[in-house]
Amino acid sequence: MSSSPDSQTLRDFLAQVEKANPKDILRFKDRIALDYEATAVALELERGRAWQAPVLWFEKVEDFEMPVVTNVFATRGRYAMALGIPEDRLIEEWAQRGDRMIEPKLHDKGPVQEVVYKGADVDLGRIPIKTHFERDGGRYITNGIIIAKDPETGVRNASHHRMQVKGRNRLGTSLHSRRHLWDYVRRAEELGKEIPIAIVIGGHPLMTFAGLWKGSMAIDEYAVAGGLAGRPLDISKCVTVPIEVPAQGELVIEGHILPGVREPEGPFAEFTGYHSERSTENVIEVTAITHRKGAIYQDVVGGMSDEPAACWPCRRKRGSCAPCAAPSPT
Ligand SMILES: Cc1cc2nc3c(=O)[nH]c(=O)nc-3n(C[C@H](O)[C@H](O)[C@H](O)COP(=O)(O)O)c2cc1C
Repeated sequence: MSSSPDSQTLRDFLAQVEKANPKDILRFKDRIALDYEATAVALELERGRAWQAPVLWFEKVEDFEMPVVTNVFATRGRYAMALGIPEDRLIEEWAQRGDRMIEPKLHDKGPVQEVVYKGADVDLGRIPIKTHFERDGGRYITNGIIIAKDPETGVRNASHHRMQVKGRNRLGTSLHSRRHLWDYVRRAEELGKEIPIAIVIGGHPLMTFAGLWKGSMAIDEYAVAGGLAGRPLDISKCVTVPIEVPAQGELVIEGHILPGVREPEGPFAEFTGYHSERSTENVIEVTAITHRKGAIYQDVVGGMSDEPAACWPCRRKRGSCAPCAAPSPT
């Protein structure tokens, strides 16, 4: 018993969550501070609670236009809902669909390009990117999927990376998992090439799952997203880089990873519960910001919160289930 999602948007997924159980989304209408407050609310709600971990929706974050949504991935129930299956079939279904590839469908433009900032208008300060923990090195994008192409074969890859704001158009990132993007950058640097990228923030959860897929470097991870959904992912062309992004996403940051440039990045509160100093110290120069009208900014709580470690058997005692006991590359 499984079904394909009808929509490829985060907003429709959130509406589906709310319809299924209105208590699964907690809306905050009062103004909150950009830094720390949303993280504090998420962690305070976790304390002493039996099992619930609602999506947190902050409608007014200082003077920002965009609302902030966080904790979306804090329960396995919501993972299952994204796949349209009961929770007890999660692992089995994920494995089956992960082997099914469906090529994406390319459009010239998508809703994610309804609002475009380029050149001097680029300013990461327009986006409610926050400091999560006191000892973090700064403000961090915690839910960014970097889309890049292999510098030799052109195959697309999608992977999550933490990204620290360094200025209006500058981000620092770490590729410490040393997986596909790290290898793209290594080879591009040998060829003296830049790596054009697009950072996707706020898509349907199945796009997020595709960004976590671990498989061959020869596979286009948009085909993985299609396979998970059971239908082609709609993608559209970026405005300043030769990269395609999910057309129905909320927000995209376009730019380049600069070859041969390294700058301090971190520390950052990782899901292990430690502040990690480890970083490959890569630098991204931003060339455009595009988003939907009325875009929602999606964040991941970070640190040792339920999100991103949504493993219920391990909530009280980490490492008590097989996936968590396995060594992790991050
Ligand atoms: C929320 C989140 C944040 C992550 N941050 C990083 C990061 O900062 N650096 C990194 O190298 N890997 C990070 N990862 C792990 C990679 O995204 C993951 O290993 C991914 O599968 C790599 O993709 P690839 O196998 O297609 O290269 C993160 C994962 C998640 C879920």
